[in-house]
Amino acid sequence: MVRVTVPATTANIGPGFDTLGLALNMYNVYNFEETELGLIIEGCPDEYNNEDNLIYKSFVIAAKEMGKEVKGLKISMNTEIPVSRGLGSSSACIVGGVYGANELLHGGLSKDELFRIAVKIEGHPDNIAPAVYGGLTASIVEDDKTYCMKYNLSEKLKFCALIPDFETSTCEARKLLPQDVTFKDAVFNISRTAVLLKAMEEGNFEVISVSLKDKLHQKYRKTLIHQYDEVKKICIENKSDAFFISGSGPTLMNIIQNPEFTNRIKVSIMNLEHNWIVKYLEADKYGVTVEQI
Ligand code: HSE
Repeated sequence: MVRVTVPATTANIGPGFDTLGLALNMYNVYNFEETELGLIIEGCPDEYNNEDNLIYKSFVIAAKEMGKEVKGLKISMNTEIPVSRGLGSSSACIVGGVYGANELLHGGLSKDELFRIAVKIEGHPDNIAPAVYGGLTASIVEDDKTYCMKYNLSEKLKFCALIPDFETSTCEARKLLPQDVTFKDAVFNISRTAVLLKAMEEGNFEVISVSLKDKLHQKYRKTLIHQYDEVKKICIENKSDAFFISGSGPTLMNIIQNPEFTNRIKVSIMNLEHNWIVKYLEADKYGVTVEQI
């Protein structure tokens, strides 16, 4: 049996829309076994228990790329990453399926090759890159090629995710974005993205908080997140060092220096209309791992 463990990810990180991503220490574990025939999926809700399952679809696409045939497959899983919450659950499924196929079917593909296949399935690289390489990543796609650069991340940076009891769809969240942006707004984001990466490497919280601002996506998408302004106010009052929408939302992420923030905020968050899980997280440095069990 092959076991693939994939970390959660937070993408965009303020100004780095469709570019920056960071792996977090919350994991989905997928087990893959060959069977005589058919498909067995265990450990997920019934609605995902069919051939449209993203883990299975990704497994099949990767197998095709390797020129291998899938006869029968059993997938079982143990998942921590909440679905459709902006924490990379789709990327985890895709990376899980692609890596599962490579290991179980002896595909022999390199990390970079598996990254390219996974990005092709997902459509954008920012969640896939940290799920594969771990840590803080910046990635781009040029024609059919994918490029990922991994940045150092200061150990001082800790994270507090606020995960609501409602979902948002990435597809819907992308429809809210404008077709064109002004030159001024583009420069605003480019400059902040470059500065943010160095500030995250050095653990310079003052610079992180300034450079995390963005003008390209969050102001459009916050309308999909109930009580966004109230949650942001609570975070700022409790001295969040930096606050941003995780991926396309609805999870709201704080970069923090002091884990105590997590306990402080729980009290105020409890009084809101929706339930918000307050989760303390740290960066995952390594990305996806594969074991033969
Ligand atoms: N960069 C993507 C977006 C991340 O914001 O739409 C979500 O998959």
